[in-house]
Amino acid sequence: MKKDTLLARTGRDPARYQGMVNTPVFRTSTVIFPDLAAYEARGDDDFKKVRYGIHGTPTTFALEDAVARMEGGYAAVAVPSGLAAITASLSAFLKPGDHVLVTDSAYVPTRNFCERRLKPGGIEVDYYDPLLGADIARIMRPNTKVVFCESPGSLTFEMQDIPAIAAVAHSRGALVFADTTWGTPYFFRSFEHGVDLSIHAATKYIAGHSDVMMGVIVTTERCWLPLRRTVGGFGFCVSPEDCYLALRGFRTIGVRMKQQMASALRVARWLQLRSDVKRVIYPALENDPGHQIWKRDFEGAASLFSLVLIPVTDRAVATFIDSLKLFGIGSSWGGYESLVQVAHVARNRSATRWDPGGPTIRLHIGLEDPDDLIADLEQAFAAMRKA
Ligand SMILES: Cc1ncc(COP(=O)(O)O)c(C=O)c1O
Repeated sequence: MKKDTLLARTGRDPARYQGMVNTPVFRTSTVIFPDLAAYEARGDDDFKKVRYGIHGTPTTFALEDAVARMEGGYAAVAVPSGLAAITASLSAFLKPGDHVLVTDSAYVPTRNFCERRLKPGGIEVDYYDPLLGADIARIMRPNTKVVFCESPGSLTFEMQDIPAIAAVAHSRGALVFADTTWGTPYFFRSFEHGVDLSIHAATKYIAGHSDVMMGVIVTTERCWLPLRRTVGGFGFCVSPEDCYLALRGFRTIGVRMKQQMASALRVARWLQLRSDVKRVIYPALENDPGHQIWKRDFEGAASLFSLVLIPVTDRAVATFIDSLKLFGIGSSWGGYESLVQVAHVARNRSATRWDPGGPTIRLHIGLEDPDDLIADLEQAFAAMRKA
């Protein structure tokens, strides 16, 4: 099946639910077994059977199956947020004395977790230049267990050569984790590029409507049980309503993302021609330094990118942002609506320097008409120039 057909078919089984197109919302904590023998045989490691609410319901499994199949992984588990997906994954595979390499471009709370939880827990953490590729070999240690990637970084959009990193990591017995929220299961088939464990903030494009907090972790067969046991052991579970909403959003990820990518490219190209913009950082643009890797590994681009303004005062930046009427000022991305934020990158770097020569602004392009978005940006630039 091609991926759009798969999106429409997977994660549902009408014959099982009286012909209902969608897997219904199943609410439960307790599951009753027919006899003691069945209860005793329920299997601690059988995470695909309904046995207690914490381990999932048919609604949960429908979402997990759909995401895992789309991405080409062995299995998936839903957790309460994207950040929970990151922390559970790192916790599952690292113990005191181990070493983890984390890209310098990682989502800031990933770095905070490494600093505040992993390091005090006796796990060594080093940050690496996201552009290292196969040169990661130089900083691998005998105790390196995990190389953590995020490609592209969600503020600075450096594309990582994940296949090259994976080849080195695997030859040294380390696993490759990737925060693939930007690529999504629709545009990036992680496991074909050497990823062992793929992390999604399903809060973004998977749910897609800015109304659900969720993470989904997809793994290879080898990583599945250690990961799934850790998620269960932490007591993480997700409400069936949220799983239903996320799967409902996921059904349309293809049309949403294709449309949002087209709009993002239009806005990005328009921005590139402006004298108030120094640089647009978006791997889907032909002249972006990460374009070749993006073209090689991805089937499309998310509608999230940054621009670097020419040097202007903080007041002028605030005027630009406050003047925008169609871009909400807020965290997150991947919904149907456009968003803007200032990217404070420099203070969250240690292996590399971020000094692009002007303020960095991140835009998320939603499903609005791009002409309206461009007109809105135009009037905000005019207001900025006045300020
Ligand atoms: C790249 C990336 N990963 C993970 C997360 C965390 O997701 P959540 O907000 O669902 O915890 C975010 C959130 O902004 C993100 O941008």
